[in-house]
Amino acid sequence: MTSDRTTERLVWDLPLRLFHWLLFCSLSASWITAKIGYDVRQYHMWLGFWMIGLLTFRIVWGLVGPRYSRFASFFPRPRLFIDHVRESFRGGAKQSVGHNPAGGLMVFALLILIAAQAISGLFVDDDIFYAGPYASKASESFAGIMSTIHHNAINFILVLVAGHIAAVVYFSVLRKQGLIRAMLTGMKSADVVSAQEEISGSRIWLAITIVIVVATAMFSLSWV
Ligand code: HEM
Ligand code: HEM
Repeated sequence: MTSDRTTERLVWDLPLRLFHWLLFCSLSASWITAKIGYDVRQYHMWLGFWMIGLLTFRIVWGLVGPRYSRFASFFPRPRLFIDHVRESFRGGAKQSVGHNPAGGLMVFALLILIAAQAISGLFVDDDIFYAGPYASKASESFAGIMSTIHHNAINFILVLVAGHIAAVVYFSVLRKQGLIRAMLTGMKSADVVSAQEEISGSRIWLAITIVIVVATAMFSLSWV
């Protein structure tokens, strides 16, 4: 991609951006296939395995990826969160390079809930036609708890996703911070990102290696 490095700087690496838009498409497809019902239940389960792989990639990337993809860079800290909310209400919150303290909290909540949704799917049992691949190996009470999680976590996810989309549209359109554009191109304005804060690259080969290891592990578990 050609860009003017004096006016824009790289913040979101390519693997992180791909992860984000794949997560958006896969979660939407998982929800749609869940709602259509029995005819497409097998597709729903395959999508679920894919999502577990996707989330596993994100966890590893959160440990070894470039600066703003790392969990350490946006780990929720109550003090920063309170300061950020206070400054936002006063209209003076500084635009963040990576996730802001409120956004970081939302990201952790979303990732944890989606992981709970996907993992509980492995043990869910509708007692009629379809059960997750590990349901028969789990005790009845454990499968019951997992079914409760699988049928309820999705409601919290939908609320958070609605809040997430409303927030990014607000900051992008009304506050003109270009967050959505940044999640597409990876670039933010040089007014916000100093030369020292820019990431040096996307670590593509590291990402490809992680994808191969995660995909091999997923297939070797031979769930289906
Ligand atoms: C994040 C990914 C997932 C989402 C958003 C999701 C969502 C849902 C929802 C909303 C339902 C309830 C459908 C209804 O009756 O209204 C459902 C049912 C089901 N899901 Fe998932 N699911 C996901 C991952 C998985 C995985 C990984 C598996 C297993 C491999 C799985 C297996 C099942 C099964 C067997 C049912 C039917 C059980 C029942 O209705 O009690 N799901 N899913
Ligand atoms: C199923 C729907 C969605 C889910 C589950 C989701 C989830 C996430 C997650 C987990 C992140 C953090 C990325 C990371 O560090 O891993 C994120 C960031 C972001 N998402 Fe989404 N997203 C969804 C839909 C959307 C849509 C439709 C848009 C655009 C309209 C969008 C725009 C953004 C932006 C701009 C960021 C970066 C926020 C920031 O600057 O801190 N997302 N999203």
